[in-house]
Amino acid sequence: MAERSSFVVVANRLPVDEVIVDGERQWRPSPGGLVTALHPVLAEQRGTWIGWAGGAGEAPEPFELEGIRIHPVPLSAEELERYYEGQSNATIWPLYHDAVETPVYKRRWREAYRIVNQRFAQAAADVAAEGATVWVQDYQLQLVPAMLREMRPDLRIGFFLHIPFPPIELFMQMPFRAEILRGLLGADLVGFQQRLAAQNFVRLARHLLGLRYEGQSIQVDGRKVKAGAFPISIDTADMERMAADPGVQARAKQIRAELGDPETVILGVDRLDYTKGIELRLKAFRELLADGKLAVPEAVMVQVATPSRERVEHYQTLRVKVEREVGRINGEFGRVGMPAVHYLHQSYSRTELAALYLAADVMMVTPLRDGMNLVAKEYVACRASGGGALVLSEFAGAATELKQAFLCNPHDPDGVKDALLRAVGAEPSELKRRMRVMQRHLRTHDVAEWARTFLNELGVTEREPAPEA
Ligand code: ADP
Ligand code: F6P
Repeated sequence: MAERSSFVVVANRLPVDEVIVDGERQWRPSPGGLVTALHPVLAEQRGTWIGWAGGAGEAPEPFELEGIRIHPVPLSAEELERYYEGQSNATIWPLYHDAVETPVYKRRWREAYRIVNQRFAQAAADVAAEGATVWVQDYQLQLVPAMLREMRPDLRIGFFLHIPFPPIELFMQMPFRAEILRGLLGADLVGFQQRLAAQNFVRLARHLLGLRYEGQSIQVDGRKVKAGAFPISIDTADMERMAADPGVQARAKQIRAELGDPETVILGVDRLDYTKGIELRLKAFRELLADGKLAVPEAVMVQVATPSRERVEHYQTLRVKVEREVGRINGEFGRVGMPAVHYLHQSYSRTELAALYLAADVMMVTPLRDGMNLVAKEYVACRASGGGALVLSEFAGAATELKQAFLCNPHDPDGVKDALLRAVGAEPSELKRRMRVMQRHLRTHDVAEWARTFLNELGVTEREPAPEA
């Protein structure tokens, strides 16, 4: 049998990208905060990452990359449609985001979700050493903790939810709600982005299953399940380094020049997702142009809308609406060679994103609901020179920490317009002061600190020696 791991991460996606070199398949680490944060623990503890490699059909054989064992889990084309696009992204995703789009409930999706969760749990049970720690990530895998505990009661199991956890009234819509809740309660520690989400969870345990709790600790079958808030963050130092790179700074200047050196560059960077409030942001910009409060070419907007979950209907509808709005704004306010909105439905490298952040005077992050929103944190970390303004929705988890942003209620168009105008008109000294406070916060609250805090609470002491194979 292959050597087992004393630390295992289970996530829907693997932290690797497939690349074809000379007609041969190779794997490259995919950039991401989570893997960066967990890399030291994974490398130290003979760690394994279990996840889906993308695509349908057979999974690649397990392999090792940069000291991490990669254990791919297969998804069939039907499972991809039912477990990933259906149950995860057309049922749970909208329901947990305040039902800003109507969740769709289908029995066959639930069944696929159970089957795939069982597969991930089995993979974890197979690779985890006796007494190992297993950290399960996110809403796609909420049944895994209980399934895993059933097979391997010796394990220490953590679960972290990257998205919001809804209030009881919304959660109660879910047809297999008790099963989901029991799935999560299989963990020893259930982590959330926000204190309120953890409260929703413990209250739900009492409401739905009649379980007793004290503080954030729930009594389940003679065990204690702890709930808590662990706001995720970014690799702040890495972002700062990137922003200080002369090549990135030159690229930022070039971007501004390509935009016609406007006085104000307003930027949005989001997955093309209906939770992100892209439409309302565009509408706020259009109304300010119509009111004469902003004008092209002095002010231009750049909206990066990363392709996401493109086969899910909600996402297809959103794309049509966003692109119609961009067309309308450019039709009414653009000039030849001078669009009002530069719309980019593309993925970018980390350095190009950093250059965009550096080029932007105002960053608009206006989700209707968001677990955290790392883009907001990345923008702040990039602005070491002190300029730049962040307009931030109160409904993003990041708003709890980034209090010096220009906060707004995305449901109130006038409030969004007002926040944008205040950001555009703010004095440089005020902007610097706001940025400095937020940067200080991110330097101490980075993604490594997030992982450390969660794992400490789970009882994983730092630098535990890896057991002999
Ligand atoms: P979500 O997890 O819902 O997509 P976040 O804002 O928390 O939202 O995280 C998005 C991450 O994806 C950020 O790290 C951001 O830099 C990255 N990202 C967003 N758009 C792009 C893009 N077009 N190309 C590359 N990376 C992107
Ligand atoms: O933030 C939630 C999340 O599902 C992440 O886990 C993921 O990296 C991101 O959104 C993109 O989603 P997907 O994996 O569906 O492309």
